[in-house]
Amino acid sequence: MPDLSALAREAAGRAYAPYSGFQVGAALLTAQGGLFTGCNVENASYGLTVCAERAAICQAVAAEGAGMKVARLAVVCLQREFPPCGACRQVIAEFSLPLGSTEVTLIQNGQPVTLRLADLLPHSFSL
Ligand code: THU
Repeated sequence: MPDLSALAREAAGRAYAPYSGFQVGAALLTAQGGLFTGCNVENASYGLTVCAERAAICQAVAAEGAGMKVARLAVVCLQREFPPCGACRQVIAEFSLPLGSTEVTLIQNGQPVTLRLADLLPHSFSL
């Protein structure tokens, strides 16, 4: 089992975050067993910023195609601890295993904590 939090931390070191100063990394394992990482990429036009989780998901879809499912995902910020933002939760939901059973690992008090997506994003929107 790959250490997704360690891979996310490594990816965070490559973040482009000159505006917020928060370097964020994400690492995910797909249902097919693929491993992908992403980091946040900010922009002078702030709203164009891409979060680490969404960057990792885009890599995974580009490699595995439209059927890609996220089995597990970890997110780490080097400067402080936070869970995935609401926008990223919704994007993870788009590629979640059935019933929001995708596992999301974040760091709390220095320790990895794993939650089901269904608990991180209850009553999620879908079409
Ligand atoms: N950020 C992420 O990469 N993921 C999140 O879930 C929350 C926020 C990034 C966006 C921005 O570059 C910085 O963290 C501060 O908001």
